[in-house]
Amino acid sequence: MSVQSEIKKVTTHRLSEMKLRGEKIAMLTAYDYSMASLVDEAGIDVVLVGDSASNVMAGHETTLPITLDQMIYHGVSVVRAVKRALVVVDLPFGTYQGNSREALSSAIRIMKETAADAVKLEGGAEIIESVNRILSAGIPIMGHLGLMPQSIHKYGTYTVRAKEEAEAEKLISDARLLEEAGCFAIVLEKIPAKLGKIIADELKIPVIGIGAGGGVDGQVLVIHDLLGITQQFSPRFLRRYHNLAAEIKGAVGNYIQDVKTTDFPNEKEQY
Ligand code: KIV
Repeated sequence: MSVQSEIKKVTTHRLSEMKLRGEKIAMLTAYDYSMASLVDEAGIDVVLVGDSASNVMAGHETTLPITLDQMIYHGVSVVRAVKRALVVVDLPFGTYQGNSREALSSAIRIMKETAADAVKLEGGAEIIESVNRILSAGIPIMGHLGLMPQSIHKYGTYTVRAKEEAEAEKLISDARLLEEAGCFAIVLEKIPAKLGKIIADELKIPVIGIGAGGGVDGQVLVIHDLLGITQQFSPRFLRRYHNLAAEIKGAVGNYIQDVKTTDFPNEKEQY
């Protein structure tokens, strides 16, 4: 048997089994082949091709400008690399909110052109028609509630969501709605830990948090934040596991110096 055929691919079913047995789900973003290979080989459960690519890859202020074609480009690169993890691709802003037919055709393009395993959408009751239509085509959906960066112009701030009772109640009812519709998991972003736990305890599907506390079924971070490549962004929920920005700048600085001093290339580094 080849090594490749021994790899057991993570499925949506496997994620629900993990929740059942209390095993936490580890999810990270990736947007390109090289990073996705590393993250997958390290054993991550879910790779998210997030629309945060708009920020960390393209340098936009928000996630709004990224297009469906650009998400597909990132998705194709990631899927080509990943052998084990479940790959989820974000549907970008403007491709699913207004019209459920357009939502379905956006989701179908992602599934056909990237060969990803699922799509992720932001929102609850407002987008339930789109959710139902996409699910009816057999496309698995990961929901996304709480802070929804595609709605940043509505909120006006990236602060913690659902601190007030009315918003917390709406969030709980949206989470129920997404589960009843048939979503296989939900991401909860930047909400009080207590609320995250209430929702994770109530829902049967896995609830994956980013700034939603430790009481949920798994965690997700943006890989560039975790590795310390992004330097300005430091919300309370972010644990940095490396200071790669300093290491990269140090390595590049050494290279520049070696070129300038003619130390590089040396005798052994040429033909
Ligand atoms: O786009 C993204 O990276 C996300 C995560 C923050 C959950 O949606």
